[in-house]
Amino acid sequence: MKLTVLPDAGQAAKAAASRMAEQIRSKPNAVLGLATGGTMEPVYEAFLRHETKGLDLTQIRSFNLDEYIGLPADHPQSYHRYMQEHLFDQIGMDAGRSHIPNGLADPTLEARRYEAALLEQGPVDLQLLGLGRNGHIGFNEPGSPFSSLTRAVDLAESTRESNKRFFKEGNLPPERAITMGIATILRAQHIVLLAVGEAKAEAVARMVAGEVTEEMPASVLQGHAQVEVLLDPAAAQGLQDGPIPKPLAG
Ligand code: GLP
Repeated sequence: MKLTVLPDAGQAAKAAASRMAEQIRSKPNAVLGLATGGTMEPVYEAFLRHETKGLDLTQIRSFNLDEYIGLPADHPQSYHRYMQEHLFDQIGMDAGRSHIPNGLADPTLEARRYEAALLEQGPVDLQLLGLGRNGHIGFNEPGSPFSSLTRAVDLAESTRESNKRFFKEGNLPPERAITMGIATILRAQHIVLLAVGEAKAEAVARMVAGEVTEEMPASVLQGHAQVEVLLDPAAAQGLQDGPIPKPLAG
């Protein structure tokens, strides 16, 4: 794993945006693995503001990590809508080139279809990842098999609690999602994981220096040959020499 600590969260997001642009510059028909969540908003913002000038975006294709089950594409909190608002509308990305699991389809069949599409069109050249406070990647919660493929999953209570902030007051996120599996994610040629803020520090330390275990999904990245972890100082604060943090509760 290559670790890069940037001076602040904004510069960490900018670094992730420039990794995206470098990938597209070196391979205009690159397959990008895209992520959502609060951490990624400034990445797409920086990409649009600083990286698109002169960049050919007409041939890229994309696969998103995940989608909530039960939310229609036009629901304000669906990841379809997130991607439209934060990236696709601005770059004129058409639906034929951008893939996101359909939250309204039969989950088992949709997961199978999505995995098959990834196998046919992949591998993903550059996969962007955020990090859950409990160590999840995509929606692969603690306990997800390292051999898992795209599938329907139950979300951890802590994940629903933490993503509640994006939903209208009183509305909890759906209980289930379709997510690329751990083995699906690992097929990517390059992975860039971005984590910022103190709330991610413990998960970052366990991901980078802790035991590789299915209880800490992101720890699997220790075994991937091309992973870059971009951090701000707050997210990196658990990485000084010292004991590895105790396992997270939930
Ligand atoms: C969400 C997403 C993940 C994301 C993570 C962190 O639930 N499924 O792909 O990386 O949790 O989210 P945030 O960036 O909002 O902290």
